Amino acid sequence: MRSMSRGLVSFCLSAALLSTVMPDRGGSVAFAHEGHDHPPRKVESAEHYKPTPLPDRIVLTWTGDPTTTQAVSWRTSTEVKKAMAEIAVAEAGPSFAKNGKSVEAVTQPLKTDINEAHFHTVEFKGLTPATRYAYRVGDGVNWSEWFQFSTASSAPEAFSFVYFGDAQNDIRSMWSRVIREAYRDAPKAKFLLHAGDLINRAESDAEWGEWFGAGHWLNAMVPSVAVPGNHEQAKSESGERRLSHHWRPQFAFPTNGPKGLEEACYTMTYQNMRIIALDSNRELAVQRDWLDKVLAENQSEWVVCTFHHPVYSTGKDRDNKELRETWKPVFDKYKVDLVLQGHDHTYGRTGLDTPLITTGNVPAGVSRVDGKTGTVYVVSVSGPKMYDLQKQPVMRRTAEDTQLYQIISIDGPTLRYEARTAVGELYDAFTLKKTGRGQVNEMIEQVPTSPERHRAESSTGS
Ligand SMILES: [Fe+2]
Repeated sequence: MRSMSRGLVSFCLSAALLSTVMPDRGGSVAFAHEGHDHPPRKVESAEHYKPTPLPDRIVLTWTGDPTTTQAVSWRTSTEVKKAMAEIAVAEAGPSFAKNGKSVEAVTQPLKTDINEAHFHTVEFKGLTPATRYAYRVGDGVNWSEWFQFSTASSAPEAFSFVYFGDAQNDIRSMWSRVIREAYRDAPKAKFLLHAGDLINRAESDAEWGEWFGAGHWLNAMVPSVAVPGNHEQAKSESGERRLSHHWRPQFAFPTNGPKGLEEACYTMTYQNMRIIALDSNRELAVQRDWLDKVLAENQSEWVVCTFHHPVYSTGKDRDNKELRETWKPVFDKYKVDLVLQGHDHTYGRTGLDTPLITTGNVPAGVSRVDGKTGTVYVVSVSGPKMYDLQKQPVMRRTAEDTQLYQIISIDGPTLRYEARTAVGELYDAFTLKKTGRGQVNEMIEQVPTSPERHRAESSTGS
């Protein structure tokens, strides 16, 4: 990167000094180049994403209780055989660094399509709730900067998080603006939730490099929660689908899901919300039984589930019947509040005043016209790949050709949902209010008056 930038600077300078200034027809000037300039050199992925002893791809996640734990993972070159993190309670002055406590990392090698790297993970434990910590990661000589994060409060406290549908394509050039706009919009968000298809090719290190580059330092300060999409699946040597080799070394998620689905299917609580992450690519029945058990034991006021494939598809000619028939009865049984999905590269959200339909790719009992509703299902997309919309009667608000992020805020018995476009405009909103334990929520529609973003004519999706 750096050498390319220098090359561009010298190219511009030499062009300015040696070229002849020619007026063009519009009255501005154009440069007539003398033929000595070399064409720009494409920086190859292996060079761009080469690991070094300096930590990169630093990402906060949770494996345990967000009030007292925090995990961090990062990447280095294979020269770094022993890695560590230092952590201290953050203070206004710089002397906090002297109090840094060292925690040794667990290191995993990863041979990718373009390089070999070491991925390191540290789990900070025994932290104090509602406290700001500073940490850095490194090998004792080469360190990251000090980053800061806050542990969750153990007392009820309002909080927000951000949800992203598929990032997947042109992540560096076109998705980066969405995650950065979301951060500008919700800088105090407690975590970032990704509903699968973070990248397009499961084993492409360059694409993972783009994903980490887009979030960059904010991934080191705001924890991520993610589930695998179909694009985080690769074919094994025996032809079976398996999770990307990148997933587990680079993210430290809970391992409390069914055996064989560790870090892809898991649950955790954040204050008064239970998050249930499911892997909709595999083992649907196994996860249904696990989900039923988790929900039967759940004590949290709010339940948000996330997985990749939609229960109600918004993409044209798409339907995940098996998934709907396997999981939806459990969501209904326990009155799950909100389901956050991706996959269909369009936007659609079930709502209050949509009709009750009981057959096909539409929900039974998902919405009522009596001022109460059951589970709200959302499909969204944050990256630039766009499909044709299949508008279902149950969808209260839909969109095509629109990159979105969502800010979801919980304050005691109230959940506020806002979908915003890549330029920060409010596109969709509703509020859910708890009406009593085991009861369906009151739903207040707050859809903006702006028209729905649909293509003028149906065009072919890709
Ligand atoms: Fe996708």
